[in-house]
Amino acid sequence: MIDSIQIKETAPSEAPMDLLLQADPSISKVKGYLNQSRCFIASLNGESVGACIVQPLSSGVHELMNISVAPEHQQKGVGRKLLQHVIESIRNANAERLEVGTGTFGYQLAFYQREGFRVDFIDKGFFLLNYEEPIFEDGIQLKDMLRLAITFTE
Ligand SMILES: CC(C)(COP(=O)(O)OP(=O)(O)OC[C@H]1O[C@@H](n2cnc3c(N)ncnc32)[C@H](O)[C@@H]1OP(=O)(O)O)[C@@H](O)C(=O)NCCC(=O)NCCS
Repeated sequence: MIDSIQIKETAPSEAPMDLLLQADPSISKVKGYLNQSRCFIASLNGESVGACIVQPLSSGVHELMNISVAPEHQQKGVGRKLLQHVIESIRNANAERLEVGTGTFGYQLAFYQREGFRVDFIDKGFFLLNYEEPIFEDGIQLKDMLRLAITFTE
């Protein structure tokens, strides 16, 4: 199955919103970063099964804003293939650094670390300050954001 996964870059307007909202429940936040970002889609037989959004920040720094795989296709290697493709694309754009922030300190941490992300710092209270509604994952309220980064020049 994983060999049949195709990854391509599309216009942000073609991003599958249902997938993006799985990783970030705030539709206004997703719409806020989508238009100035690059959008990568993983598809299987023409169906979008994964998506990743990367926003260029200041010179040479990019932030992975969202990555998501449809629940029925998770844990089959789609996310890894998509993340590897995105890292290579950003590296090839002569980027200095790719950053990501996550509120969960669970399996997502291994997902990023396996592809070379390293812990940078903790943004204390990020989710309390930036989201109107509390966000829960596995019954735990997200409060602090763990910041991770790959520095390509190291
Ligand atoms: C995070 C996400 C994109 C991973 O996609 P995926 O296709 O399921 O991941 P993969 O099958 O490629 O897994 C790659 C590695 O990630 C880790 N991983 C992924 N899902 C995991 C799970 N449920 N439990 C434990 N480890 C997991 C493992 O290290 C795995 O490597 P392994 O299979 O050799 O053990 C997907 O789970 C998802 O969409 N989650 C909901 C949205 C989300 O949390 N996005 C990230 C916000 S920070």
